Parts: sequence; C-alpha cells; structure tokens
Amino acid sequence: MALSLAQPEISEAAEVMRTTGWADYALIDSGGGRKLERYGRYEVVRPEPQCLWTPRLPPERWTAADAVFDPSDEEDAGRWRFKGAIPPETWPLGWGPIKFHGRFTAFRHLAFFPEQAANWAWLQTQVQAAAQAGGDPPRVLNLFGYTGVASLVMAAAGAAVTHVDASKKAVAWARQNAELSGLNDRPVRWITEDARKYVQREVRRGSTYEGIILDPPKYGRGPDGQVWRLFEDLPELAGLCARLLSENAKFLVLNAYAERISGAALAGLLAEKLDGRGGRIEWGELALTEERGDRAIGMSFFARWSSEGRFA
Ligand SMILES: C[S@@+](CC[C@H](N)C(=O)[O-])C[C@H]1O[C@@H](n2cnc3c(N)ncnc32)[C@H](O)[C@@H]1O
Repeated sequence: MALSLAQPEISEAAEVMRTTGWADYALIDSGGGRKLERYGRYEVVRPEPQCLWTPRLPPERWTAADAVFDPSDEEDAGRWRFKGAIPPETWPLGWGPIKFHGRFTAFRHLAFFPEQAANWAWLQTQVQAAAQAGGDPPRVLNLFGYTGVASLVMAAAGAAVTHVDASKKAVAWARQNAELSGLNDRPVRWITEDARKYVQREVRRGSTYEGIILDPPKYGRGPDGQVWRLFEDLPELAGLCARLLSENAKFLVLNAYAERISGAALAGLLAEKLDGRGGRIEWGELALTEERGDRAIGMSFFARWSSEGRFA
C-alpha cells in the first residue's frame, strides 16, 4: 500500500497552458497557414500550417508587417524578407524583469519561443516557493537551454542554475541575455556540452538538483557530433534526470515540439521514471492565443512533475 501511495498521480485531462502575450509579444492575427506576431518593435509574418482558418484582419494589415519568413523545402529553414531597412542584428525584448535579444534567425524563429512564457511563469512560482523555504538556493538544471530565458527566470527567482546546450553560439547568446537582464552576478553555470553526456557525468558524480527542465529537439547534435534523437534517446535521458533529483526535489518538466509526441505520452514516461516519488504529473500543450480573439495555436507538448501533493 505504501508503494502505491508513492506513485505520482497523473492528471486525467490535458491542460492547455495559454500564452496571451505581454508588452513585448502578441499573436496579432492568424489564418491562411500563417501567423502575424509582434516582437517588440517588429511585426512579423511566419508560416503556421495549422492555422486552417481565415485571418480576421484585412490583408493590408498583414502586408504592412516589417518581416516575412519565406520557407524553403528544408524543415524550418528559409529566409527573411524585410519591408524597410534591414533591422539590426538584435533588439531588446523583455518578459517581466528578464531581458533578452530578439534576432531574425535562419530557422524561422526569433531566438526565443513565446509560448514558453507559460512554462516560465510556472517555473518562477516553483523556484520562488523552494527559495522561500530557506537554506541554500535551490539547484536547477536547464537542458537544451538555448538562449537561456528559462535559466534567467529561474535565476531571478532565486535558483542556482546550470544551463546546458550543445551550441557555443546559443550559450554565448544566453550569456548576453544574462548581461542584458543585469543577472551576471547570479549563480548560473553556462555549459556547452552534449546534454546526455553532461547528465551521465552528473549521475556518476552523485550530483543532485531540486528542479530540472528539458526541452529536447526532435533531432540534434552535441558539440562533438553526438547524435540526439528524441524518440530513441528521451527514455534513457528522462531516467537519468530522475536519478539527479534530490530527496527534496520540487519539479521535473519535459517539453517537446515533435509532431508525433503528445502530452499524455510524456506524462507516461515521467510516471515510469518517477515511480516511488509521489507528487503529481500534469500534462498537455502550450498554446499561443490571439490578442483579440478566442483562437489558439497549439505549439508544443509538456508533462511536468511536482512533488507537491496529490490531486484533490
Ligand atoms: C528546441 S531548442 C530549446 C529551446 C529552449 N528550451 C527555449 O525555450 O528557449 C533546442 C536546443 O537544443 C540544443 N541541442 C541540440 N542537440 C543537443 C545536444 N545533443 N545536447 C545539448 N543541447 C542540444 C540546440 O543547440 C538548441 O539550442
């Protein structure tokens, strides 16, 4: 009986974590396979095949956008077309106290993922609660951390952060974001390494963390060419992450963008790896909601374990 009490409880229904925008981001309109968004001072049009409906704003509103991403045949690749002068390489954006650079990347995104704001808010609450409990700052690990917004949100909330990404360039951009946010003095370790290799080493060392977030791509490469494949490699990595959780661990968040994954599947994986830890697992999708409407676009899937209690 004691054993069954220690199994995490999985929520019955999917949760949609909606991001409705903030001062520096909005989903202005969508439809016709595209979305019109605002990133600070720039309005941007990007392909979004799932927007099967018709835009609500008139065509001239869309053609006035500052930048349009024209996709090529290759996945996520393509090029930006600018309406007026070529914009600067970076421009400042913020989410609450966290500042970061927007960039027109060659992979159709703007150097951060706005729908992740729902995760940032949840992580912020978790870390603040753990930090307020007193003692040393909670240690958190952000794997596949890219430009570091989640790392900075957690650092500002009082965590000692380890940020890992395979790309030297991404880690350099993350450090620039830390500087822009005025968080250089916070305990953040910036590590350029293969996520799996790093985690394997941490398990051997007996390191532990109070919180872990991982947002692995479908396919990626470590700095020494190590191949990462979501469907083949996630089960082992999730198991290793579970071993890195301290006795007082508060959370483990899994996020994924792959088409054939689901929140329910991520929850099943977490439940298996966290058997014996109690707590609860919520799962679902992250969505962007139009600023003036009820329409939402599902962007990624998540499952998250928290040590706090079972469902009522
Ligand atoms: C989907 S992005 C993560 C987005 C990030 N969580 C965020 O919200 O900004 C994927 C990241 O994984 C990194 N990556 C790919 N393969 C990797 C590997 N084997 N080890 C570590 N990082 C890897 C890429 O460099 C990229 O920054």
